[in-house]
Amino acid sequence: MSEQHTEQKPEQKKLIFSGIQPTGTFTLGNYIGAIRNWKPLQEEYRCIYCVVDEHAITVKIDPAKLRQKTLEAYAQLLACGIDLEKSLLFIQSHVPTHAQLSWVLNCSAQFGELSRMTQFKDKSQKHPEDINAGLFDYPVLMAADILVYNADLVPVGADQMQHLELARTIARRFNSRYGELFTVPEGYVSPLGAKVMSLQDPTKKMSKSDENPNAVILILDDKDTIIRKCKRAVTDSGSEIKFQEGKDGINNLLTIYSAVTGKSIQDAEKEFDGQGYGTFKLAVGEAVADHLAPVREEYAKLIADKAYLKECYTRCGAEALRYSQRILNKVYRKIGFVASEIR
Ligand code: AMP
Ligand code: TRP
Repeated sequence: MSEQHTEQKPEQKKLIFSGIQPTGTFTLGNYIGAIRNWKPLQEEYRCIYCVVDEHAITVKIDPAKLRQKTLEAYAQLLACGIDLEKSLLFIQSHVPTHAQLSWVLNCSAQFGELSRMTQFKDKSQKHPEDINAGLFDYPVLMAADILVYNADLVPVGADQMQHLELARTIARRFNSRYGELFTVPEGYVSPLGAKVMSLQDPTKKMSKSDENPNAVILILDDKDTIIRKCKRAVTDSGSEIKFQEGKDGINNLLTIYSAVTGKSIQDAEKEFDGQGYGTFKLAVGEAVADHLAPVREEYAKLIADKAYLKECYTRCGAEALRYSQRILNKVYRKIGFVASEIR
């Protein structure tokens, strides 16, 4: 984003905002379902990407671990191809306008609406000992992340669509109460995105929090580890490599293979026609490892260069702050806060 863009949104390019929590090394599921799609979007849109550390503290996390995970997530996103010549990538807690707007939006969000959020219900059930107000308020901070930039499009996975819908409701409610200000953001589902299932139980989604390490490929796993996990992937007792009902394991491996090679599922089926599951699993493992090798190499360089990372998140954070401060000022004016010179 150049300086001229900070004054007014240019008509030609739409603005994208997305965030991801720094809760561990990203999985192949995060990568194929979300992060990988952030890279090509940079060509067509102005993109603002954010590591959402403030969301991460809605569940208990050790402070040293949070600090480390945040930097690691930042470096992983850069390694996956976020280009700071084209986009902004920063850390949420560095840009206070998100939390400031979130307070204002709280007063346009209804208790009933927040109580109906599936993620809140799930997480409160999982952590009955710590149903904190932040967990309840999580979607309002997410709405603030998006609305504080007047983003047009928000790439999110299916599980976040309910939160995005709430952000739209809050934007409309604010606009009708105080006058048009917020862009009502649209969800963006990438045509490249796909749901990746657990390698050990292919009816469940591949998830960072899975207790079985063999169920999950991490984007920083080495080649041998990736191949071993693919070889051990649970499949059915058949022998045909075909995408069809009832073959969840094979379907998942075909989806993964197609995502990392760019080949269609049909072409992959032809390629492995007449071959056994063993050969296919090995080929999937190799393809995934080859695809992720540059990410892993780039990550190793980046994580060793803390000064460079700092320079990147500081510069991007400062620009995000400048941009969002203008929108927050407009919000404050609309709602009747007395103008302040303290800034
Ligand atoms: P989470 O790991 O749940 O914080 O999700 C971060 C992002 O990755 C969200 O956009 C999810 O929709 C996406 N994601 C997580 N797991 C998967 C998966 N197994 N397949 C596809 N997308 C996923
Ligand atoms: N809640 C999102 C998730 O868990 C992360 C997130 C926070 C986000 N703020 C956002 C995603 C704003 C898109 C836009 O995946």
